Amino acid sequence: MTTFPPGFLWGSATASYQIEGAVAEDGRTPSIWDVFSHTPGKVLGDDTGDVADDHYHRYADDVALMARLGLQSYRFSVAWPRITPQVTADELGPVNPAGLAFYDRLVDALLAAGIAPAATLYHWDLPQALEDAGGWTDRRTAERFGEYAAVVAERLGDRLSMVITLNEPWCSAYLGYASGVHAPGRTEPAAALAAVHHLNLAHGLAASAVREAAPGTDVALTLNLGWFQPASGSAEDADAVRRVDGLQNRVFLDPALNGRYPADVLEDTAAVTDWSFVREGDLELIHQPLDALGLNYYFPVLVGRAAPGRAPERADGHGDEPASPWVAADDVEFPQLPGPYTDMGWPIDAEGMRALLVRLSQEHPGLPLYVTENGAAYGDGPGPDGAVHDEQRIAYLRGHLEAVAQAVEDGADVRGYFLWSLLDNFEWAYGYSKRFGIVHVDYDTQVRTPKDSAHWYAEVIRTGQLPG
Ligand code: FCB
Repeated sequence: MTTFPPGFLWGSATASYQIEGAVAEDGRTPSIWDVFSHTPGKVLGDDTGDVADDHYHRYADDVALMARLGLQSYRFSVAWPRITPQVTADELGPVNPAGLAFYDRLVDALLAAGIAPAATLYHWDLPQALEDAGGWTDRRTAERFGEYAAVVAERLGDRLSMVITLNEPWCSAYLGYASGVHAPGRTEPAAALAAVHHLNLAHGLAASAVREAAPGTDVALTLNLGWFQPASGSAEDADAVRRVDGLQNRVFLDPALNGRYPADVLEDTAAVTDWSFVREGDLELIHQPLDALGLNYYFPVLVGRAAPGRAPERADGHGDEPASPWVAADDVEFPQLPGPYTDMGWPIDAEGMRALLVRLSQEHPGLPLYVTENGAAYGDGPGPDGAVHDEQRIAYLRGHLEAVAQAVEDGADVRGYFLWSLLDNFEWAYGYSKRFGIVHVDYDTQVRTPKDSAHWYAEVIRTGQLPG
């Protein structure tokens, strides 16, 4: 019987643009995801977040649903364009009371239901006005983010149990600015590395702003770390693993937790940028004390060196192949792992989550860890009996929760688990075609139907162990 430590926190996660809708209400201005999703061809089916799960209007019912499932914590994100809709690169602009009031109501509803609110300050919906001035390639975006963080923390911080500065800056930087499959859709390798640094800086500025405005709340950072396995025992493949580990994992972990950039990453990327955007004092600003680190984990990755003669993927967006997010690592390839796969085409191996949690606990002893996202996309909908029998999702969750329990047994200080996601929602470039929810959403009627996995998860929460 797999059991979890007493006090282990059970939650679920969502993000503003993926569920809220109401994109033009109460003073909200466009984010990069509004502009990107409204650009034909960028999102599958040209889906947008205009309505999404209409959570902005239905939050009270959604909180009641969370309470029925017994969730102990709910991780949501705050949409920056609701809070300071007139922000420019040089000025934060006025705070929008109506925008803040929405999160105020949400937080109070959660507390009234006995659910601990955990807020992410940035889950990818950058105000478009900032992108027009350079976005994450411009350091002023980081400066404004620190100010925005202070506004949110001053207003909500007394009631938040955790504030997560950034969600998966790897995606914001490399998918947004190198491969271009995420907003803002740019394909400029050097810009992606500037974005990496300014996101790191944004994290540090926000962490200290939140600490000051809301000393009682935990401050955390959420990373999607890669679990990279070499395709063979060759020295080339081992070196390929080192390089992608640097670009995805250590380029975020090292500055935030150790106050430095990894020397090998600076060297590997020297042909792309000289990193002159890193100013004196930046690393001290980035290196803030943290109360926890959040890990988002979905799938394992196999890594190898491309065979000589194979045309390297072009990272400039002009080749036949799509641009690569792997800046300065065009010669690295990712051989397909055997299935089974989820609907995302992602292979399933929970061992990666265990291994990453254990690695983090060994490299950073004393740093509490949370799984801030984990889950699977499967398309099941209501059957003739009205229920949603998503057996594959339950199997995925069981395997991954066993891995979390194993990590705890192996000494990792894992304090909680947030399942992605509560509701089916707007899955970025895949639009509504991928369903990650433990609650099914009918997008025509907005009817919510808890899937079998929701009932299963409720049982896990109630008993603190995996049903046999
Ligand atoms: C993560 C994102 C989250 C969701 C899941 C499936 O990368 O943080 O918003 O899209 O993937």
